[in-house]
Amino acid sequence: MIETIKDHITKVEQFTATSKDEIENFRITYLGKKGLLNQFFAEFKNVASDQKKEYGQVINQLKTRATDKVNALKESLESNTVFEGKFGDLTRPGNPIPLGARHPISIVKNQIIDIFSRIGFNVSEGPEIEDDWHNFTALNLPEHHPARDMQDTFFIQTNPDILLRTHTSSVQVRYMEENKPPIRTISPGRVYRNEAISARSHCFFHQVEGLYVDKDVSFADLKQTLQYFTSEMFGKSKIRLRPSYFPFTEPSAEVDVYWGLETETDHKMTKGTGWLEIMGCGMVDPNVLKNCGIDPDIYSGFAFGMGIDRIALLQYQISDIRTLSENDVRFLNQFRSSW
Ligand code: DAH
Repeated sequence: MIETIKDHITKVEQFTATSKDEIENFRITYLGKKGLLNQFFAEFKNVASDQKKEYGQVINQLKTRATDKVNALKESLESNTVFEGKFGDLTRPGNPIPLGARHPISIVKNQIIDIFSRIGFNVSEGPEIEDDWHNFTALNLPEHHPARDMQDTFFIQTNPDILLRTHTSSVQVRYMEENKPPIRTISPGRVYRNEAISARSHCFFHQVEGLYVDKDVSFADLKQTLQYFTSEMFGKSKIRLRPSYFPFTEPSAEVDVYWGLETETDHKMTKGTGWLEIMGCGMVDPNVLKNCGIDPDIYSGFAFGMGIDRIALLQYQISDIRTLSENDVRFLNQFRSSW
């Protein structure tokens, strides 16, 4: 009997619990009215008198141990509850952090950068607040040149020499002023024009400028480069170059890509021709090279400029350019992308 009680003492010492119910069951088993302790006490009268002393000692030991255990377990459970109340359940998985989506302009810009970087173009940038020299004069557009009217400019009222750049061609000038050929650079960025805002045009939009200057650069190099670009960007390599005019290039051309006439949207977008205008380009005018400190007798180059917004509208079949700057998350969340 004494051995059984000693075994219980060991059991009591080793017992642990994580809930109130477990502690209560434990308490009832040992300390309850019909619990083991009372049963052992009831046995006392049947114990041989020479063992009574030791028997009494072990059941008292069992009683103290069991009581202490119950109190200790209750206390630790309570302090845990306080802990949980303060910080919540620390083992719970965290709330997911909602991931944003990249803006369609950024997606298209990154794609363009990637395509040109594969053929050795780097990325350059210039300021959006520009001076007359970099935006116009150096690009063969002296004061009073009629072509300045092609681009409705936002001037700073107190200083007409300072303006919001109307195109990223200004970065060409800055880049050539600071770097010697060979030059292969693309310059993405925001540009501004004083135009009425509608579904088709905005007073600010985005362009990518391209510039290649080296010895013996020819119009054939330009065409090859653009063909590579359109096939990588749109999966379409049929292009045509229409003669055009830009003051900073000679000869100049407008680039159309053959989009096809498969769907109704193709018909609408291309006005039934299948051709879509995507950029302007040309051979850098010798005057521009000279203005930027590059000798046109040694070097030649080509340049091109395209609108990023327009390409984004095309790629994603967006019908209103204003949605690109309204910051409506219902619109923006539709552009999940790794770019
Ligand atoms: N800067 C022109 C524009 O804003 C686009 C352009 C045309 C850029 C021909 C060029 C170019 O570099 O060669 O419409």
